[in-house]
Amino acid sequence: MVTYAVVGAAGWTGRTCVEVLLHQGYNVRAVVRDPDRARVLYRTQPTLSGLSIRDVPVPERLQIVRGDVRDPESLRAALQGCAGVIYAATSSGWTQLSAFWRTMRTTSPREVDFQGVQNVADMARQLGGVERLVLVSACYVTPTNRWQPARLFCNTLLGWGLMDWKWKGEEALRHSGLPYTIVRPDFITARGPRQRQLTVQQGDASFDRFHSTCVADLAAVCVAALTDPAAANVTLELFSDAPPRGGKAVPLEEQVQGVFRGLAPDGAAAAGARQGQGGAGGGGGLAG
Ligand SMILES: NC(=O)c1ccc[n+]([C@@H]2O[C@H](COP(=O)([O-])OP(=O)(O)OC[C@H]3O[C@@H](n4cnc5c(N)ncnc54)[C@H](OP(=O)(O)O)[C@@H]3O)[C@@H](O)[C@H]2O)c1
Repeated sequence: MVTYAVVGAAGWTGRTCVEVLLHQGYNVRAVVRDPDRARVLYRTQPTLSGLSIRDVPVPERLQIVRGDVRDPESLRAALQGCAGVIYAATSSGWTQLSAFWRTMRTTSPREVDFQGVQNVADMARQLGGVERLVLVSACYVTPTNRWQPARLFCNTLLGWGLMDWKWKGEEALRHSGLPYTIVRPDFITARGPRQRQLTVQQGDASFDRFHSTCVADLAAVCVAALTDPAAANVTLELFSDAPPRGGKAVPLEEQVQGVFRGLAPDGAAAAGARQGQGGAGGGGGLAG
């Protein structure tokens, strides 16, 4: 059975990715800084995905291992033998106040949101066998959004230079030579509207209305990105919207199946933008 690693697996997104992977029958390496703390978390907290994974024989398929993205050697055993990696670590937890203070005290955006991505990509390349590295980034990281209010807030108050370092982390991955997918959520929530329509866009444009991304949707898309050929070398923004009035969203699994269809790989997206096409992908819900 294939094994996937999730880095930052004690965080919101990381933990939800682990749940989705287990639910889909994969073996999972949950890479965390403090395995004892993570074991308690996994045992005692309700799932964030809404999936029932307590019914499957999880302990045989879930390994909780120590790994710190600032320490490349700690990543060797953690990533060994993995077919893909989801990187969901950050120096700044936005949704959990406790994580926010813990990471703020111990790490910096440069170390985790940039250098950590580079370290994981380097180790994955060295070990071989990693067919996709999926990076969870954020909307508005692109430097052209410098004065966008949400970006300004994150870049100053959530962590000094956080968005600049996240952009550098993205760039490091794009130039790593590894096949990758970069998924940019907006504000991550535990719950969205009961019926959700996934919306994907490319180009990191500034939006005229508030978006959020439900963590269960984000995790489902990150897991799909590990294997979907259409997700190779693609950067996308992902939102969980309510379906249009009177409309009905199709089930999440069906939406996820087509979520990368028609998206442009990064080189092509950049070329499209240069030709004044506004970047590929443009937008459009998938539930229609
Ligand atoms: N939350 C939002 O609203 C939001 C919005 C847009 C984008 N994003 C992005 O989405 C991604 C996931 O966010 P999240 O809210 O799910 O994060 P989170 O809950 O704060 O989890 C982040 C995890 O990163 C881990 N971490 C920190 N430093 C590390 C290190 N040196 N080595 C290994 N792991 C380390 C933390 O480990 P410990 O458990 O050991 O502290 C924590 O579990 C991030 O890139 C974030 O910037 C979040």
